[in-house]
Amino acid sequence: MERVIIKGVGSYIPECVLSNADLEGMVDTTSEWIVTRTGIESRRICLDTEMASDLGCEAARRALENANISGCDIDLIIVATVTPDMRFPATACIIQEKLGCVDIPCFDVNAVCSGFIYALDVARNFLLNNSKMKNVLVIGTEKMSSIVDWEDRSTCVLFGDGAGAVILSRDVGEDSDAGILDVLVGANGSLGRLLHCPIHESAGPIGVSRTDQNKYFIRMEGREVFKEAIKRMCSVAEDVLLRNNLTIDDIACVIPHQANMRIISAIADRMEIPMEKMFINLQHTGNTSAASIPIAIDEALQNGKIQSEDLILTIAFGAGMTWGAALIRWK
Ligand SMILES: CC(C)(COP(=O)(O)OP(=O)(O)OC[C@H]1O[C@@H](n2cnc3c(N)ncnc32)[C@H](O)[C@@H]1OP(=O)(O)O)[C@@H](O)C(=O)NCCC(=O)NCCS
Repeated sequence: MERVIIKGVGSYIPECVLSNADLEGMVDTTSEWIVTRTGIESRRICLDTEMASDLGCEAARRALENANISGCDIDLIIVATVTPDMRFPATACIIQEKLGCVDIPCFDVNAVCSGFIYALDVARNFLLNNSKMKNVLVIGTEKMSSIVDWEDRSTCVLFGDGAGAVILSRDVGEDSDAGILDVLVGANGSLGRLLHCPIHESAGPIGVSRTDQNKYFIRMEGREVFKEAIKRMCSVAEDVLLRNNLTIDDIACVIPHQANMRIISAIADRMEIPMEKMFINLQHTGNTSAASIPIAIDEALQNGKIQSEDLILTIAFGAGMTWGAALIRWK
């Protein structure tokens, strides 16, 4: 029985901490407002010289070490990001060179905060349909600080930088109930206007104003996004459970996209998920978009929240609007 397992996990968040107190000095806000409305206490921010490929590369090195394999063992690199170093080449190609994985295929996926789940699905299908591939590196990496409008208090408090990576491997074993059991993804392009960023230019440091800010930075209708996030994350989670004849009682740990504590609490309420099952690390990361779920998986593992044999449910939501959920039996 062929299956796709997660053989290694790694993450990296930049060293520079931007606290809510720091933001109080930048925009008209208070730490109390940010914590009450979002749950976020601080986030990590890249240095001007650090790019999404640097974060992704470090997360990948950690995942390779965790899987006990080297860059030469990787057959494909997929990077989920909306803050690529450049328009092209793809960030996956830049990371390939840094890791020394010569000549293997590399490409980026853009599904914003759902990007990691999309990339996971693509990687899993590559492995199941191409017997020559054994290991695929999937990375979610973001330098959100480069597209945040640091003069807009309604969005700049929400986002952070970081990267997470997993090594997916084709594995043959008796036990079919192992690894990535199912992935479900979807999108509704008609709601794209609710959260968008027209032009990308990633080199901007904090505090630099651009001539036409509406074009360069994240623009969001927060309340509408909030409602849509809860609706779609609940429905995709329920759908993936239903089509696998599972209920929330079968799940040991839920890893939701780390956007907002109130979104996570509302999902837990609506789906009757005990909060102890919800893994939450947004207090110190903020919303790292495509990096959020792999960083959370890595931290959940390090904190002992995921044990061998546990069934994990990850749920994502992002601009697009996009959404996705994955069921993973941890081995
Ligand atoms: C952004 C968000 C936290 C705002 O919370 P909210 O309760 O919806 O707040 P509102 O946007 O209605 O604003 C309420 C008031 O707070 C103010 N406000 C907004 N940001 C503020 C800040 N950082 N500090 C202080 N006040 C702020 C607004 O100006 C508004 O003031 P007004 O009533 O005088 O007009 C919330 O809408 C949200 O989390 N949305 C989802 C965002 C998200 O997760 N996006 C990524 C999805 S992948």
